[in-house]
Amino acid sequence: MALIAPSLLAADFANLQRDCEMVNRSEADWFHIDVMDGLFVPNISFGMPVISAITKHATKTMDVHLMIEKPERYIKEFKAVGADILTVHYEASTHLHRSLQAIKTEGMKAGVALNPHTPVSLLIDVIQDIDLVCLMSVNPGFGGQKFIEQTYSKVKELKRIIKGANSSTLIEIDGGVTSANAAQLIEAGADVLVAGSFVFKSDNPEATIAGLKKM
Ligand code: DX5
Ligand code: ZN
Repeated sequence: MALIAPSLLAADFANLQRDCEMVNRSEADWFHIDVMDGLFVPNISFGMPVISAITKHATKTMDVHLMIEKPERYIKEFKAVGADILTVHYEASTHLHRSLQAIKTEGMKAGVALNPHTPVSLLIDVIQDIDLVCLMSVNPGFGGQKFIEQTYSKVKELKRIIKGANSSTLIEIDGGVTSANAAQLIEAGADVLVAGSFVFKSDNPEATIAGLKKM
């Protein structure tokens, strides 16, 4: 059974409290929070004030995914607004190891996200220091995109690397996750499924989350 992390990027921003309360009530495990800077990705989502507002209502783990250049500039600030897990992109961090240590020093779990074109083998030397690897199964920047099928083999290879290192790193899949690919992802070794559009654009988001949880 995988952990389910609904992405609030697909929520109704004019009704964030309502959507947070839905996730609180549901079988979801985490809140997935997507921060975009318009530079690392071609889109701008939201920043600290909105995350603070979400934290006020959210009763579950805050899983914050930074799609921003030089994420090390804001580690303390994200802790202050309530992040429990802070994920930085491999492609946006020159000194990844230092960033991971800085995240842990602040008392958060440290995650690394990989774009679809980035090989999982690049993490071999740092895997013991990573609590979570977020494999992007779409190009980051937008919700509602089509799942990239190559992701399955990346999950399997990453699982081998994690087991080989005797590490407890979790594998999270982000982008285009639906009931059509969830079971195969879990089978391949995924531990956490992020789902945005599939949850929030459905007629009954709570039931959709319950359905994913049963996969
Ligand atoms: C994409 C974000 C995702 C996004 C997923 O850049 O990182 O978390 O919200 O949305 P869906 O599930 O709609 O692909
Ligand atoms: Zn995300």
